[in-house]
Amino acid sequence: MQQVVAVVGGTGAEGSGLAVRFAKAGLRVLIGSRNLDRAQAVASEIAAQAGAGEVIGHTNPDAVSKAAIVILTVPLSAQVDILKSIRTSFLSGAILVDATVPLEIAVGGRLSRTVSLWDGSAAQQAARLAPAGVPVVATFHALSAEALKRIDQLVDCDALICGDNPEAKATVSEIAETIPGVRAIDAGPLDSARFLESSAALLIALNLRHKVKHCGLRITGLGPGEVYP
Ligand SMILES: NC(=O)c1ccc[n+]([C@@H]2O[C@H](COP(=O)([O-])OP(=O)(O)OC[C@H]3O[C@@H](n4cnc5c(N)ncnc54)[C@H](OP(=O)(O)O)[C@@H]3O)[C@@H](O)[C@H]2O)c1
Repeated sequence: MQQVVAVVGGTGAEGSGLAVRFAKAGLRVLIGSRNLDRAQAVASEIAAQAGAGEVIGHTNPDAVSKAAIVILTVPLSAQVDILKSIRTSFLSGAILVDATVPLEIAVGGRLSRTVSLWDGSAAQQAARLAPAGVPVVATFHALSAEALKRIDQLVDCDALICGDNPEAKATVSEIAETIPGVRAIDAGPLDSARFLESSAALLIALNLRHKVKHCGLRITGLGPGEVYP
């Protein structure tokens, strides 16, 4: 069956970048926004760019109410309010994917620094606000919007994946690997999401230092035969 993915904040840079890649891979993609007109306009643009799949614009709650996988791509400053606005809309069995990087810039600080959150990470904050029974998976932090939007190029980056529900992580790994060049790697439980979020800030710092638009993350040494006895 065709996988249905809702992207909450799908009108933004990261959300629309993921959406175009998933549409190109043939998934059914629902673009969520606080504004229906904006969602529909961006959905039409993404459909034209992808030339495949099906892309439809909805308000955030409507998008969530129709999807098995919900990807949250909003700024940290909006994460709590947006989660409260969608928490009653999840389908039974749905998965919430959080891609929030808790950057200091959200509170007037620097782009390449993270802020500490009471829950330990933005993903754990999302888990606290998610409805009971909806597993939260943290990933996509290292996949830059800049790389995603170059739709004829490989995204040369691993997608590290954290979460406490193995089935949810497997499902999200499958959709991550529909993006050409992306390898999904299980990076442990949700309380390790802080490392993924910090590594995204590190990539931003490297972009700034080396004056490049984006750089990716590759983990080596995890292949067959490399298992510690
Ligand atoms: N940009 C990247 O390369 C990248 C990479 C990895 C992870 N991320 C993470 O993904 C999230 C989104 O990043 P982004 O660069 O896509 O941000 P963005 O372009 O600013 O887009 C975010 C979207 O969030 C929605 N939103 C909801 N409440 C908002 C509010 N109070 N203020 C502003 N926007 C609000 C907006 O959609 P509507 O107005 O249509 O509702 C907006 O289009 C962030 O947490 C970021 O750390 C970004």
